[in-house]
Amino acid sequence: MAENKRPIAVIDSGLGGISVLSHLLVELPNEDFVYFGDNANAPYGSKTTDEVLSLTLDNIKMLEEKYFAKAAVIACNTATGAAAAKCREIYPNMPIIGIEPAIKPAVTLSGKEAPNVLVMATPLTLSQEKFVNLAEKYNPNANLIPLPCPGLSQVIESGGDEKALDEMLTRLFADVESEDIDAVVLGCTHYPLISEHIKKYFPKASIYDGGLGTALQTKRRLSDSGLLISDRKTGSLTIINSAQDPSFEELANKYLKNINI
Ligand code: DGL
Repeated sequence: MAENKRPIAVIDSGLGGISVLSHLLVELPNEDFVYFGDNANAPYGSKTTDEVLSLTLDNIKMLEEKYFAKAAVIACNTATGAAAAKCREIYPNMPIIGIEPAIKPAVTLSGKEAPNVLVMATPLTLSQEKFVNLAEKYNPNANLIPLPCPGLSQVIESGGDEKALDEMLTRLFADVESEDIDAVVLGCTHYPLISEHIKKYFPKASIYDGGLGTALQTKRRLSDSGLLISDRKTGSLTIINSAQDPSFEELANKYLKNINI
């Protein structure tokens, strides 16, 4: 198959990467995508770095060998932090694009000199020091409030039932002074799928996630590598999951349809 005709792989521990895929489909409408949710091994956020690294390497290998992926988008903040650098070393000829919590826009664009920025992410993502460093780099006056959200991605995986979500969010935000928050960073790709719920708790805050930036970066990388498809109208989407759960695709399409981008 001609190199540029091969699909782009999009990977997450489950449904979270759908929030990134929604931007990819808009920015790269001619491309074929294979979306892979590793739900047999979810959640990634409470695993060790080595475990997530090994799973991500296996996933890219499978998508390259079985689906001939020309590029991989690691649509998972946790897996990007744990594995993107190593994956790029192992696959030097394949564009590998990751996602990181949108700290930069949150600390610089929220309109305040010293904004209070709530960073929601998985425990593994927040255990990495680079966040504090990023905030210091772009706005040393910003007050970063990390909020690990164990269990939240699983509620979203099981369909995002209103009651379960409200219970979980009320518990997670119990100690947060919501009126003082200027910006909320959705630092896990699952959270933009429920951004409307999260907004209810922070009516005055701006909400940031890295989905659009990742899609634009994917487009740039493919263009620079001569891998963009240019000769046809609409690409295809294949949705698969490691648990072979027959309801996964339906739920993925439901989130894809309802997400507000
Ligand atoms: N969606 C993933 C992220 O962006 C992780 C969710 C999980 O813990 O599996 O971090």
